[in-house]
Amino acid sequence: LASIEVDVSALQPGMSLTAKWRGKPIFIRNRTEKEIEEAKAVQLAELKDPVARNANIAADAEATDIARSAGEGKENWIVMIGSCTHLGCVPLGQAGDFGGWFCPCHGSHYDTAGRIRKGPAPMNLAVPNFSFISDTVIKIG
Ligand code: FES
Repeated sequence: LASIEVDVSALQPGMSLTAKWRGKPIFIRNRTEKEIEEAKAVQLAELKDPVARNANIAADAEATDIARSAGEGKENWIVMIGSCTHLGCVPLGQAGDFGGWFCPCHGSHYDTAGRIRKGPAPMNLAVPNFSFISDTVIKIG
């Protein structure tokens, strides 16, 4: 399927689901206020990869928290391809030194905005093309 629609109505803050799109896991998380605040507090200069890697915005956009999220008013939502940018393992959620995702294959730590913070992965987790087609349904692709 070129695109999929995912119902996220059951996801309260702090809950995630993994969908499958083009054979890849897609992480969808309704982030908590704390997770958003932690991600916002990070200075761009601290980031290993300062680029947003979000297919929905400019290719050279900076990796601010809002640019990594579903955007203004939907900043709690983060949608990412669940494939470590090192060698493609599937990272574990709510794990690692930065409370985001942790790839156990070679120890890459991603923060609560899915940005690489420590370990061998070179880039932030990729944000695929997606949009909310209603308040509770996300179309991916
Ligand atoms: Fe994730 Fe190597 S594949 S750290």
